[in-house]
Amino acid sequence: RFLDVTQAGTIATAAKQIEASHGYLNVLINNAGIALDAHQPPSQLPVMTMRQDFDVNFFGLVSVTQAMIPLLKKGAPAKIINVSSNMGSLGLASDPDSRFFQVNSLGYQASKAAVNFATIDFAKELQPDHISVNSVNPGWTRTDFGGNRSGEQTVAEGAAQIVKLAADDSPDLNMTFTETAGKLPW
Ligand SMILES: NC(=O)c1ccc[n+]([C@@H]2O[C@H](COP(=O)([O-])OP(=O)(O)OC[C@H]3O[C@@H](n4cnc5c(N)ncnc54)[C@H](OP(=O)(O)O)[C@@H]3O)[C@@H](O)[C@H]2O)c1
Repeated sequence: RFLDVTQAGTIATAAKQIEASHGYLNVLINNAGIALDAHQPPSQLPVMTMRQDFDVNFFGLVSVTQAMIPLLKKGAPAKIINVSSNMGSLGLASDPDSRFFQVNSLGYQASKAAVNFATIDFAKELQPDHISVNSVNPGWTRTDFGGNRSGEQTVAEGAAQIVKLAADDSPDLNMTFTETAGKLPW
């Protein structure tokens, strides 16, 4: 793996290579993600497993973002798209009418809720630099994710909202959490 989001050295190397080859960055898509918890109740879930989820999904995303900000500033107007999850929505998880009310996957859910907070806080900081930051839920997609390929959508369908945001030129599109079907509760 050329860039391991948990290894500062590989992140710095990637930033240097982009600097040398292009000098700037227009779009950063923070896609790397893992889900190591297997729906154990929170009382049974090893803290180490949750730490591993957070290392990749949250701390990795924040580390890569911090390293790429100088390049994004040079590429402004630029955008950061954080690949989050509907499983990280506090609104859905606490809504008895939502199917996510039944979901118990504390490490993954909390790490994606933290991703959404990174979206909000980086969006506020970077707006004056004309860098937008948005969260996207790809939805249940047939990838290697979670050790199976049983998702409902094709990869193209899962990537559609990410691609749409990457191509969007509206300067007002900032600090949102969306999926193909529309807006999601944080
Ligand atoms: N599939 C779904 O149903 C679904 C639903 C909602 C959200 N998501 C989110 O969508 C994103 C993409 O997942 P996916 O469905 O495409 O799953 P995937 O097929 O398992 O792909 C995960 C990707 O993350 C990379 N990755 C994992 N750990 C990494 C690390 N330490 N450093 C760098 N890269 C790392 C993997 O790289 P390698 O190939 O090198 O291992 C792989 O490219 C994730 O953030 C996930 O949480 C997926």
